[in-house]
Amino acid sequence: MNKITLLFCSFLILSSCAYQHDKAAPTDNTNTVNQLNNGTGLISFSQMQVVFAKCTQCHTGFAADGGVALDTYAGVRANLSYAANEINTGSMPPKNPLSMAERNLVQKWISQGAPEFGSSDDQTPTPTPTSTPINPAAITYADVKGPIFTQNCIQCHSGAKPAGDIALDNYASINTNLQAVGYDVIVDESMPKNGPPLSSDLKDLLQQWILNGAPDAPGGSGTPTPTPPPTPTPTPGPILTPTPIPSMPKPSPTQTPILRVTYLQVQPIFSQSCVSCHGATNPKKGVALDTFANVTKNIQGVQSEALTNKSMPPRSPLSASDQTLLQEWIGQGALEE
Ligand code: HEC
Ligand code: HEC
Ligand code: HEC
Repeated sequence: MNKITLLFCSFLILSSCAYQHDKAAPTDNTNTVNQLNNGTGLISFSQMQVVFAKCTQCHTGFAADGGVALDTYAGVRANLSYAANEINTGSMPPKNPLSMAERNLVQKWISQGAPEFGSSDDQTPTPTPTSTPINPAAITYADVKGPIFTQNCIQCHSGAKPAGDIALDNYASINTNLQAVGYDVIVDESMPKNGPPLSSDLKDLLQQWILNGAPDAPGGSGTPTPTPPPTPTPTPGPILTPTPIPSMPKPSPTQTPILRVTYLQVQPIFSQSCVSCHGATNPKKGVALDTFANVTKNIQGVQSEALTNKSMPPRSPLSASDQTLLQEWIGQGALEE
């Protein structure tokens, strides 16, 4: 079966699936959500229906609330960063926020590149592979370096002044920027800049490499450790109710440990480094960073100015540890608590 037919069939299956869920919203999805959270393979969009079914009663088709349709893969992809933000801030579904497990699942799916098809889809008729089969679990930097980075990125992302201040001609720098690379290439296809998006084969290759833990060499350490785990800065003064900062969860055999970073931990960065110019009254460029709501409203600007371009605060970028902590927080979906 060729790829177009396959895509079309899956589309039919997915739409009927969304329709069904729409009619009978699932009552208890806890087991399915936990299974997916603990699983290791790629999660497919149809599996994600376990969460998005909670949105489709209001977000379907042309008359979708907020103009945001979440009943098809294309609709979810087009609204992904907004949807993730609404989910993580607990503002959607209205009055009925998703459970932590559901939020984690959405994050996990996004970090996989929000794939349409997952590992379990391998049982469905697969298009006959045209390229030489390569063992997905064995993909290392050597396999992605040439076809992805050398051929598509380094003309802009190398040298003394790499584009966006991101060099993509060496493993260490790629590994440090992995999240942005995955997002820009696979999710929003904004890179290569001004060029066509990478072919789906190349995107799959990149995705599989990231899924493997982006190893440098065969048998590489698995999960990348770009920087030492952030040490949360002690919160100065009484801000909110002093919730104890959650300590590193003990890795249980079944669950991937996630060091949750919440607003409480990054709030001191904003108050110490930004609020003098971006306070409640008359903030620079209209960007206020004094409350959780204001920070999340400007999250893309924060990402680009403080982390990517490092142009904020002016002339004195954040310390490396603050950057790591902030990046981790945004990467986890800018959670409030
Ligand atoms: C009960 C109806 C309802 C449900 C269920 C619901 N939403 Fe919404 N959503 C709305 C309405 C109404 C708006 C537009 C008003 C607003 O922006 O607050 C909206 C707006 C949005 C927006 C656009 C926000 C913006 O700032 O423009 C996003 C994204 C969104 N919803 C995502 C979701 C996601 C993801 C889910 C499921 C996890 C979901 N919604 C579930 C009613 C709903
Ligand atoms: C034609 C030049 C060009 C090519 C080719 C290119 N980029 Fe970029 N890239 C840029 C520029 C310029 C920026 C700075 C931000 C902007 O202008 O969008 C950037 C920014 C980025 C960023 C940071 C953006 C952000 O989210 O803050 C990432 C990550 C990135 N590129 C990854 C890649 C990857 C991966 C490839 C190859 C698959 C690639 N780029 C190919 C020009 C390019
Ligand atoms: C000393 C004052 C000062 C501090 C401190 C400061 N900023 Fe700014 N910020 C500015 C000024 C001035 C502008 C407007 C710059 C311009 O128009 O190019 C600005 C603009 C911005 C913008 C909007 C950029 C755009 O072009 O839309 C963002 C986002 C931002 N700052 C984030 C931050 C963050 C995050 C911090 C803390 C980590 C921070 N700033 C700290 C003075 C400051």
